Amino acid sequence: MYKIAVIPGDGTGPEQIREGLKVLEAVSEKFKINFETVTYDLGGERYLRSGEALPDSVIDELKGFNAMYLGAIGHPEVKPGILEKGILLKLRFELDQYINLRPVKLYPGVETPIKEKGPEDIDFIVVRENTEGLYAGAGGFLKKGTSDEVAIQESINTRKGVDRCLRYAFDYCEKRKYKKTVTLCGKTNVLTYAFDLWERAFYEIAQEYPNIKTEYAHVDAICMWMIKNPEWFDVIVTDNMFGDIITDLGAMVQGGMGIAAGGNINPEGVSMFEPIGGSAPKYAGKNIINPLAAINALSMMLETLGEYRAAKEIEQSVVQVCVNNLKSLSAGAMGHTTSEVGDLVIKYLQDL
Ligand code: IPM
Ligand code: MN
Repeated sequence: MYKIAVIPGDGTGPEQIREGLKVLEAVSEKFKINFETVTYDLGGERYLRSGEALPDSVIDELKGFNAMYLGAIGHPEVKPGILEKGILLKLRFELDQYINLRPVKLYPGVETPIKEKGPEDIDFIVVRENTEGLYAGAGGFLKKGTSDEVAIQESINTRKGVDRCLRYAFDYCEKRKYKKTVTLCGKTNVLTYAFDLWERAFYEIAQEYPNIKTEYAHVDAICMWMIKNPEWFDVIVTDNMFGDIITDLGAMVQGGMGIAAGGNINPEGVSMFEPIGGSAPKYAGKNIINPLAAINALSMMLETLGEYRAAKEIEQSVVQVCVNNLKSLSAGAMGHTTSEVGDLVIKYLQDL
């Protein structure tokens, strides 16, 4: 019996999660998977109502689940930073979800903005460090609000944090059985402390994986190569900030936020799966948001739980919907409503 914590969140989050849960229901029936869900009301609405973002008691409860399923966090009436830090980053940090795993895979039937590249060229995965770097919150102000103001934001990179992230990337690459290549994405020519550590750790750990090739690319160059030669990549490993940036680029390469999913993973604890797009409040409540990203996140959740067939069949069904049914992946332009897309995934799932 899997216990799954569901956080529908803000904006279009709940509509996306609703479709994901429909698919979970269908796949569980097909593969005789037992699960129960507990829904947590976290997000901008609750914050505005009660002043509470994420109580510590909730964090403790969440530790007792097998996985978490998150819609989106973000509210137009809440000042930027409060919900991001107070909910999303707090969850990642407190639950030590030290990997942010983001596949960049172009499905058949999906249009990429890159001319002359197809599904055979675009299939890689980014392993983003998820608890350190610039996100750690180190730094501060001096003389704030004056003309002498100083703002410092420091990137924290611990040997332990870097090592465990790199090891995860190499292990993942081994399991993925694709190009057997891990590319470190950094900026060793300028960030000569942080990425010096990353680079040394990278080549040291690589010795433990003699059959995996290593590559290195600066973050700016990788933005270029992701567009020019996406077929070069298999597993890209990088720090928190660079990972955040290149995975938005990756999402566009694979067809947009309508399809891009990710997992915040603690291999020894509870992991959280989410569509990587935001709460998109302007589309909320209209039944027009694309739920495929959330459904892909569900597939990643099942894979992480070890339900490989269920995960695979969800992905295959999503591909069928892309090939046969959707006019576009964008909200409002799919040619189907949010709930119809969920129904279509279930139909293919049952036919497989
Ligand atoms: C993401 C988001 C978050 C991040 C924000 C909302 C804090 O952009 O999941 O990529 O920067 O990690
Ligand atoms: Mn981001």
